[in-house]
Amino acid sequence: MKVLVIGGGGREHALAWKLAQSPKVQAVYVAPGNGGTSMDPRLENVPIEGNVALRDWAIANKIALTVVGPEAPLAAGVVDEFQAHGLRVFGPTQAAAQLESSKAFSKAFMKRHGIPTAEYETFSDPAKAHEYVDRKGAPIVVKADGLAAGKGVVVAMSTAEAHEAIDFMLLDNKLGVTHNEGGARVVIEEFLQGEEASFIVVCDGKSVVPLATSQDHKRLKDGDLGPNTGGMGAYSPAPIVTPAIHARAMREIIIPTIKGMEKDGIPYTGFLYAGLMIDRDGHPKTLEFNCRMGDPETQPIMMRLKSDLYDVLHAAAGQQLGDMELQWDRRTALGVVMAAAGYPLSPRKGDAITGLPKPTDEAVVFHAGTTRKGDDIVTSGGRVLCVTVLADTVKAAQAHAYEIAQGIHFDGAQYRHDIGHRAIKH
Ligand code: AMP
Ligand code: GLY
Repeated sequence: MKVLVIGGGGREHALAWKLAQSPKVQAVYVAPGNGGTSMDPRLENVPIEGNVALRDWAIANKIALTVVGPEAPLAAGVVDEFQAHGLRVFGPTQAAAQLESSKAFSKAFMKRHGIPTAEYETFSDPAKAHEYVDRKGAPIVVKADGLAAGKGVVVAMSTAEAHEAIDFMLLDNKLGVTHNEGGARVVIEEFLQGEEASFIVVCDGKSVVPLATSQDHKRLKDGDLGPNTGGMGAYSPAPIVTPAIHARAMREIIIPTIKGMEKDGIPYTGFLYAGLMIDRDGHPKTLEFNCRMGDPETQPIMMRLKSDLYDVLHAAAGQQLGDMELQWDRRTALGVVMAAAGYPLSPRKGDAITGLPKPTDEAVVFHAGTTRKGDDIVTSGGRVLCVTVLADTVKAAQAHAYEIAQGIHFDGAQYRHDIGHRAIKH
């Protein structure tokens, strides 16, 4: 079988790497891929972009399964495009992807179906939004409706910050948010306290199979300080998600979401990522939904997956997931992201990368913002690499990952030195 993975980040490198291990898979194409996928002899990059061009390429190349990595093509309807031509594709339709692409949609959905989440209101009128903030006080959270590449959320510790965020989002669009129909809107919600975890499942419209638990580190600097990023590292399992919390998240969040989407006439097929906030009493609430895998959570999760990913996603894309169970390596997987100079505001491109080790069963360096330039691999984006290792303990995984990271060089490389610290505390 031939498989196509759409995307070019670390998440897509890890998905393609795992799909290529299936005995049923004869070729994995990655569009557009990155420097890492170009070096792997089992993967092939294809320089195709745009939903229609990708669809035509998949038809011409007899692709048996397409797996969509990032949210942008999903929100633009790539799955609808493929399905309309009878192609098997794993991911939510444009309507179902609104769980991520519209905060207003997902908050209203959660309210309607009784799914635990922060109290909120939606505004398009700045005066009303400002008045609401004055009434509620800080801390308070302001979220742009629409995709914002991770920059559409302001956790305001003061009302002044919240007022500024409202003006940025509703008046100036300084954050570069892609507005949904009806123009600029914001969701303003209650500030939740607790510890975050990534709860990711595979759905086929009716059935759900949970992936291993994980946590990521969103801040740039050690100690969870500095600006928000797409994620500077991740690990699996996440000890905070105890069996009791796991059962609760399935019962109160995931199952009602899948049932609710089905009831609303927009069945959800694809990866569903619930960002959880778990309070001190072990109650999970939904911070947000993503309609895709997490990046960098995918990298450690794929290292631990023992089951055949092609079988799982092929079945899910055909509404045949049933009660499939996945097998996981008992060890901990941990990934440390190495980012470019200037990330996250203005990442520098074109720095040559040296010291990349050969992959082993215990350690793989997944690529994200890299590209091939002659015989060299150079940086081409914010998050450059994710050094991912498997080990018996979090500490051992950390030690090995940092040993590898120290041997890799590119000018201005930044990485955190404490990935996994929350898992060690537990
Ligand atoms: P999001 O892009 O929705 O994942 O939000 C980015 C980050 O903002 C989350 O990972 C949380 O750390 C934080 N956040 C979002 N919503 C809330 C909330 N209601 N209370 C506290 N923190 C939040
Ligand atoms: N690592 C967070 C995300 O993928 O949204």
